[in-house]
Amino acid sequence: MLEFNDHLAQTFIKPHEYQAMEAQLLAARLQLDGGQGPAFDFGGWLDLPERMDAKALRPIQEAADRIRRDFDYLILVGIGGSYLGARAVIEALSHHFNPLLARGEKGPLVLYAGHQLSPSYLSDLIEVTRGKKVALNVISKSGTTTEPAVAFRILRQELLGHLSDREMADRVWITSDADSGALRQMARDHGYPSFEIPRDIGGRYSVLTPVGLLPMAVAGIDLEGLLQGAREERLRSLTPLKDGWSPADRYAVDRILLNRKGFHSEIMAAFEPSLHYVTEWWKQLFGESEGKDGRGIIPMGVDFTSDLHSLGQLIQEGPRVFFETVIQVRETEKDLLIPSDPADPDQLEYLAGKALSLVNREAARGTALAHARGGVPNLSILLEEKTARALGGLIYFFERACALSAFMNGVNPFDQPGVEAYKQAMFSLLGKPGSRPLEEQGLS
Ligand code: PA5
Repeated sequence: MLEFNDHLAQTFIKPHEYQAMEAQLLAARLQLDGGQGPAFDFGGWLDLPERMDAKALRPIQEAADRIRRDFDYLILVGIGGSYLGARAVIEALSHHFNPLLARGEKGPLVLYAGHQLSPSYLSDLIEVTRGKKVALNVISKSGTTTEPAVAFRILRQELLGHLSDREMADRVWITSDADSGALRQMARDHGYPSFEIPRDIGGRYSVLTPVGLLPMAVAGIDLEGLLQGAREERLRSLTPLKDGWSPADRYAVDRILLNRKGFHSEIMAAFEPSLHYVTEWWKQLFGESEGKDGRGIIPMGVDFTSDLHSLGQLIQEGPRVFFETVIQVRETEKDLLIPSDPADPDQLEYLAGKALSLVNREAARGTALAHARGGVPNLSILLEEKTARALGGLIYFFERACALSAFMNGVNPFDQPGVEAYKQAMFSLLGKPGSRPLEEQGLS
């Protein structure tokens, strides 16, 4: 299970401040676990790790097996919570340069569309997949989101347009709300096989539903392991407060305390580039859950040590508004030794014979110490290894901490009213029937 450590934040937080937060934490836990307020309608993800048992996984695995057998590519069409979780886990567990190499397979490769509106991106995607065996998994809870809907329409036409309805239904999988939305209607009308996103689970909390699990299974991720990790973290998070705070409790409270002291931005720093999309998923989870009513902690993501050479200066000496959460992996699956060169032209002989993982680890330690000394409180998350099980635990840990932290900050973690504003302006500019003129939106 993951280890959470806030030792390097302790010069910024006094012990009695934790005690003073206990009542707020308890109230947030009661709201969440007692299904009160917004958790009543959107708390379905809380016991998901238990509910996704072998029976629930079977149809997902069967669809994935079929896609793995018959296709060269699976294009995941989705945005936000309907895409980032799957990408986070798939990229974290794949080979850096050839995703298929780690699995020793010929395919399928998972590619992504519908997460922006770039014509050049979509054109390139069409270029590399045209004439190949392509399956689409179109994922949208609402079934009406513009980006994936536009991408689906174009990909359907460009890649599958020559097929009969029957043949197309053999290549398209839909993941959407059980009843509502245009996508659900299309699945019904065209006979596309489909999966349901439970009504009480919002997009960014849906990674352990078919939203994330189907593409992950296609990529060969061990779903059992992933859910096992989430189950373990869930059990730990339910420990009664009197028996000690869980890591999710502690992380949520640290965030709130630091934020109230003027640390307005949290930087998630991973020392493994394959965790880049875990950070992206985390940004979306926390940003959309907490950023409302004029409140919220600004989530930023960095890849270290790369970004120590771009943002390191700002973090070390810029405005003192950042705290930092570092993710590290204890056991790296691959390692290299730094070779000896007695002539020492690069003055690196002091590292000869040392493992690269050690250098990375000490870089992380040094960075944390220097940043904390420079006025940046440091929180740390250590994964034992980079496996599906560890990532399942991490996902659950973040989801729970996010909901607790939002409740303690007095906002609803499960809505996103602000996302509508850009859509309304865009619809008006594009002349969507029924859209409100810009002037009426106060935008002219
Ligand atoms: O977390 C959320 O609710 C959002 O990020 C959604 O996942 C995102 O906007 C996509 O929405 P939908 O799945 O309805 O297409």
